[in-house]
Amino acid sequence: GKERTLAMIKPDGVSGNHTEKIKEAILESGFGIAKEIVTSFNEDSASRFYAEHSLKKFFVSLIKYITRGQVLVMVLEKENAVADWRSLMGPTDAQEAKISHPNSIRAMCGLNIEQNCVHGSDSLQSARREIAFFFGDMSSGSVNFSI
Ligand code: CMP
Repeated sequence: GKERTLAMIKPDGVSGNHTEKIKEAILESGFGIAKEIVTSFNEDSASRFYAEHSLKKFFVSLIKYITRGQVLVMVLEKENAVADWRSLMGPTDAQEAKISHPNSIRAMCGLNIEQNCVHGSDSLQSARREIAFFFGDMSSGSVNFSI
């Protein structure tokens, strides 16, 4: 059935002027963009968003990267949205993406395993959490909050 997932254009994607072509690819692939916000992370919000990675070796570098500029956050809607957005993004490592998935967004816009241009929820459960993180829980009638 119809699903929602969270898509984010990371600071390297926004500053590299990749936003328009990424949005074109999203719409051409049949997603609706239900919500969208331009915002930025600070250390606190980034650490909460990426809490599951807090023990990883790359965590400090990830927080520095994701807080360095604006991000564009979108709620995408379509049948099978979670898996289809991950497929359109391509592999986490943009260098690998350039070889194995040359038409993917990360192949076109990413630099390496960290600066990979875009984010997507990895499951329906993550999508629910991540959408609520940025846009609140609409079912409870809350208004948008900024992070
Ligand atoms: P993403 O998979 O969307 O969420 C975790 C992020 O951590 C990942 O994108 C990269 O931006 C970043 N990252 C940095 N180094 C690594 C690594 N070695 N493995 C996986 N993710 C990494």
